[in-house]
Amino acid sequence: MKILPPTDEAILFAADALRSGELIGLPTETVYGIAADAANQDAILKTFSLKGRPAENPLIVHVSSLVNAEPLVSAIPESARRLAKTFWPGPLTLVLPKSSKVPNVVTGGLDTVAIRVPRHPVALAILEAAGMALTAPSANPFMGLSPTRADHIAPDVLAGLACVVDGGPCDVGVESTVVDCSGDLVSILRPGGVSRAMIEIMLGEPVLTSAESERRSPGMYRRHYSPKTPLRLVEKLGPFDAGVGFDAPLNSRQIQLPLNPQQYARHLYESFYTLDQMARLELLVESPPKGAEWEAVWDRLKKAVG
Ligand code: TXA
Ligand code: MG
Repeated sequence: MKILPPTDEAILFAADALRSGELIGLPTETVYGIAADAANQDAILKTFSLKGRPAENPLIVHVSSLVNAEPLVSAIPESARRLAKTFWPGPLTLVLPKSSKVPNVVTGGLDTVAIRVPRHPVALAILEAAGMALTAPSANPFMGLSPTRADHIAPDVLAGLACVVDGGPCDVGVESTVVDCSGDLVSILRPGGVSRAMIEIMLGEPVLTSAESERRSPGMYRRHYSPKTPLRLVEKLGPFDAGVGFDAPLNSRQIQLPLNPQQYARHLYESFYTLDQMARLELLVESPPKGAEWEAVWDRLKKAVG
């Protein structure tokens, strides 16, 4: 069995595999990732081919602390340092000017690198045991749904991993917020686990969104994060519809999600995964509220709809 309970032996096994250039399934608080030694070019290339991901779509480098991020970057602007001190470990990724220690294959040739310190205890234990920085894109095939449970990792992806360390269901449920701190202005490239409001309150000023900033994030494709069954947004689910809504289910192909953006995000991919197994013509999603606190959820829904 490749999915291992999170024992000390499993963590050491995963760390050994990483040191030998193999890939492992890494639990994080956001989604499961495919981890590899960030300094090993062959392991990085294996990661891209396992996901079927285009080479220009850069990877996030995971480290166990801000101190371990320092060698990977050529500068840490004040805004980035404050964000890191507040939100690391946690679901925040900072884009910073890269140092020569980061191979170009990791960043798709960009002169910046995306870095985060995850807060999942198993992720931190594996980072510590391996003693290296780890690239970890979400453990989905390109364009597919990110897994939020070990057993939601697609069989084709699982086949390329030495093991998956099971860290239980992810408590954030959507990917980290990607914040570009490499230029003069701070901008959010991907909304996620840390909300815009939290970032703006911390910095004491508004931050741009990727559409307003000149820099765009490669890899922010319009369609993404999709279940196999086509999705459509609706006002209300009817009695015979399959999908996700806010009210009590009207049939066995409906899943009720809480009217709370964090709780909703936590269960979103898992719900899509479950409904996808029931192979219907179409899945419907009741539109959530429009408020700013739903930004990450809306981003994922729009990309899932395509
Ligand atoms: O929550 C997460 O961040 C998860 C877990 C496993 O940590 N990882 C994740 O990685 O979502 P991935 O590879 O699926 O998404 C990384 C995104 C890329 O699509 C890319 O757009 C952006 O981060 N990114 C990476 N490096 C960048 C850079 N140098 N400049 C701008 N955007 C970058
Ligand atoms: Mg991804």
